[in-house]
Amino acid sequence: MTQTLEGGLTAAVDRNPSHRTVLMCKPTYYTVSYRINPWMHPERPTDTALAVKQWQVLYDTYKSLGFDVELIEPIDGLPDMVYSANGGFVLDNIAYGASFTYAQRQPEGPAYMDWFRSQGFEVHAPKEVNEGEGDFLLVGDVILAGTGFRSDSDSHREVAEIFNREVITLELVNPSFYHLDTAIAVLDPSPKPGDEANIAYLPSAFSEPSLKLLEKRYPEAILVSEEDASVLGLNSYSDGKNVVIASRAKGFETQLRDRGYNPIGVDLSELLLGGGGVKCCTLELRR
Ligand code: ARG
Repeated sequence: MTQTLEGGLTAAVDRNPSHRTVLMCKPTYYTVSYRINPWMHPERPTDTALAVKQWQVLYDTYKSLGFDVELIEPIDGLPDMVYSANGGFVLDNIAYGASFTYAQRQPEGPAYMDWFRSQGFEVHAPKEVNEGEGDFLLVGDVILAGTGFRSDSDSHREVAEIFNREVITLELVNPSFYHLDTAIAVLDPSPKPGDEANIAYLPSAFSEPSLKLLEKRYPEAILVSEEDASVLGLNSYSDGKNVVIASRAKGFETQLRDRGYNPIGVDLSELLLGGGGVKCCTLELRR
């Protein structure tokens, strides 16, 4: 792989994939029956069978990358349960449970916590409103934490206490990018010592002070276009080399390739009707 440097020079970029374990939930009961984000239009029909088919492609893609994919049983009446990223935040074998903003999703919190318990994770029931990995992203040793639409900033303090890591609060300002994982993609989840972790993001999704913070911390970040973000291109999942993205995010795909990553496009158009993409359907389990 090569990377273009200033003055047109190129340098080898050696991207290292690392093994991942993720939790997914089959969209057996998926539909759009309420509206809690601007993507959702309950009056428009959804095709559950197609959602399952598209989700299966994502599942198979992860398996082909050598990931361990664990499954939680979907529950009838919880159509958004397919977005497993919101089920909690898991690190160091500790699962911080979710406490959802909207009543429609609240029963998912205990359902996911039961699953974590059954798998031997140390479960911390949340005191504060938070939507799990939708708003908490581990980048190297740092946890980036979103607020503005869903997770309360008090949950950022709770996360810092439980995991004893640096937590950086970022304020989201565009309702279409209501979870942090719709506005930031983590490209190098656990870089080698000495290597900088990197991210991609949509600048306009953040408040001015948060944007300044991102610019300072991640000067090498990929800045993604509105066009790519509007197909939830940033809602992607990387193992450090292979980045599973929305197949329609063509500009982002090129940017990733230029940096030595291997973008893999999948089409989750049906799940986009609920306001979610690749990353939303993926919860990383870090034991
Ligand atoms: N309909 C769901 C909601 O609005 C979509 C969740 C998307 N998940 C995510 N991690 N961004 O809550």
